[in-house]
Amino acid sequence: MSMRLNRFLARAGAASRRGADALIEAGRVRLNGETITRLATSVDPDRDLVELDGAVVTLPESLTYIALNKPPGYVVTMSDPQGRRTVADLLTGVPPGVVPVGRLDAGTGGLLILTDDGELANRIAHPSYEIDKVYEVEAKGTLSEEERLKLEAGLMLDGRRTAPATVRVVSTAGAATVAEMTIHEGRKRQVRRMFELVGHPVTRLTRTRVGPIELGDLPPGRWSHMSDEQLRTLREALKMPAE
Ligand code: URA
Repeated sequence: MSMRLNRFLARAGAASRRGADALIEAGRVRLNGETITRLATSVDPDRDLVELDGAVVTLPESLTYIALNKPPGYVVTMSDPQGRRTVADLLTGVPPGVVPVGRLDAGTGGLLILTDDGELANRIAHPSYEIDKVYEVEAKGTLSEEERLKLEAGLMLDGRRTAPATVRVVSTAGAATVAEMTIHEGRKRQVRRMFELVGHPVTRLTRTRVGPIELGDLPPGRWSHMSDEQLRTLREALKMPAE
């Protein structure tokens, strides 16, 4: 089955589709030995040889989509030169090439999607698709209505305002607030830094949903393959054609 060259490169994890267009235009892609700069080029993955910067690009045989309940204390990387515990330690039996989509900091737990589908991974990470990332936040002190509205409206992080978010207070007991926060971005330590800015340091952070994929009752440290239905709803949310 033939497909557009940019889609092929994105599926292979080489770049986003737009990034693949830039690679093609820059003359870095060869098809059957010839440099291609025409964006509307089609390839047949079973017959054609595609090279990027001289290295052969291939599609994974079949794609893998995993949901992991990452426990706090594991670093989101497949190998760590500092020898810390990583999510790879929890993923025995997973094919090589499967990598985490986006990040969760080491102290954060909850849903982490992993895949070798480069195009899907790029779309989840890209804010333009407005994929919800939902977090359960436990923070010190009582979040006031004014502070809640500030979190929702956006705060300056690294000189740039955060995009609108939603924050729902689940409970305030004693000197702690439990809230559910939905964001569409994935900036570094975003939820922790936003709560810190309104004066409520986060004591526990768990991601409970990414787009239509829920953490559900997956125990900490365990992973499962996504079901066909989960994958269908995820692709739909990411405006990807049905396979
Ligand atoms: N926000 C954070 O502060 N940490 C995460 O891991 C994810 C979102």
